[in-house]
Amino acid sequence: MTKPVFDRADHTRRMEWFNDARFGMFIHWGLYAIPARGEWYRSHAEMKREEYDKYIHEFNPTNYDPKVWARAAKEAGMKYAVLTTKHHDGFCLFDTAFTDFKATNSPAKRDLIKEYVDAFRAEGLKVGFYYSSIDWHHPHYQVYGDQAHPQRNDEAYKDYKFDFNIYLEYMHGQVKELMTNYGKIDILWFDYSYDNLQGEAWNATELVKMIRTHQPDIIINDRLEGTGNSSLKTEAPNYFTGDFVSPEQLIPPEGMFDKVGNRIPWEACLTMNQNWGYVARHGNYKSPRMLVRKMIECVSKGGNILLNVGPDSKGRIPTQSMQIMKEIGEWMNLHSESIYGCGYAGLPKPDFGRVTRKGNKLYFHIIEPTIGPAPLLGVPLSTVEKVRSLADGTELYIIDDFRTQHYKDVTFVWAPDANDDTQTAYVIEVTLKEDNAADSAKVEGGSNVTGGIA
Ligand code: GLC
Repeated sequence: MTKPVFDRADHTRRMEWFNDARFGMFIHWGLYAIPARGEWYRSHAEMKREEYDKYIHEFNPTNYDPKVWARAAKEAGMKYAVLTTKHHDGFCLFDTAFTDFKATNSPAKRDLIKEYVDAFRAEGLKVGFYYSSIDWHHPHYQVYGDQAHPQRNDEAYKDYKFDFNIYLEYMHGQVKELMTNYGKIDILWFDYSYDNLQGEAWNATELVKMIRTHQPDIIINDRLEGTGNSSLKTEAPNYFTGDFVSPEQLIPPEGMFDKVGNRIPWEACLTMNQNWGYVARHGNYKSPRMLVRKMIECVSKGGNILLNVGPDSKGRIPTQSMQIMKEIGEWMNLHSESIYGCGYAGLPKPDFGRVTRKGNKLYFHIIEPTIGPAPLLGVPLSTVEKVRSLADGTELYIIDDFRTQHYKDVTFVWAPDANDDTQTAYVIEVTLKEDNAADSAKVEGGSNVTGGIA
């Protein structure tokens, strides 16, 4: 049997919408919302299975209305979502033939994933599934000495006999259910690989072959292959490598590149507070202003942002998160053109903020007001057709006088309303003359040079 190979052209094709979308919603939801100490609670507490599994009898999300989640995502300007169908604790929000540890056997008594899929699709959002390759519930998953299993230090498991192949059949079987029972799925987000469990240890080639047979357009993240060591960065990516890299709680310094300096797709997943799963009385929320700026940062480096919410055990997204999304949405209502379909601009990073690009449009985001006219580094005046305020279309002033004449590769723009540092980000939209329309915003083939407009 010949080994399937990674098809670059198909990769570019399936990534198109994802590279344009830029902003998505991550949702961590499961039994762990009841103890409300994060999704790793059972592992951190080294809690026994019986003790944790009892939460299934009280999982009754009477406020679960995924239409509310989907509307919140849409109003925030998010274009897609990824929900935990099963997290490391093994509890499944979907109806599966392979275990009893699932929502249909809780007081919820139904397949919660189906409702999610329907609600998000109805709002026109792309639908993604998170699936934990790790499983602390399955009797044939590794236990003693494992990096994270709740019973990793439990001597009683020292000589515990298990057959990992049985677990693999389970995992492949469940992924097949997810790929065949819910119509078209846009993203499959595995979590995660480590130590002895990476790549082919999951029978990754077989698994990805099966996934792509049922879902030819699906986008898969990189965590089946390893941890940040994606072979997408190499000349010969593995067949089962992910379609994008998934840095966690980190925005890569300059974006992500393959070995020869071409940009590769990535998505930074970030929490709004400091946890993925619901945590009661959680403070430390990032401000909407900071999160919008982080989104701009991701896009300016050619990446996406997947922003997390952790609904409570009744199914409600915390009020703080709803408020944050509402405020992000207010900025997006006026400025989303500088986000969707945009990417790295091929220009030096300006002192005052960040720049994104789509074709012959450059979007300069002013985060630190400049007092005088804003210098658009790398943009000679001769290349500029017009300059406007993105929010309201107002014509801005190009300053070309005794002060600016010695800066050959810089256009100076005076935007009176930008001089207000209480705002999230003021956006100057620059339209370049047509012959400067080369689209460096596209992720693949985009260059790493911080040159300027020639
Ligand atoms: C991690 C954690 C997990 C979370 C995920 C999100 O690897 O194990 O709890 O779901 O990251 O990226």
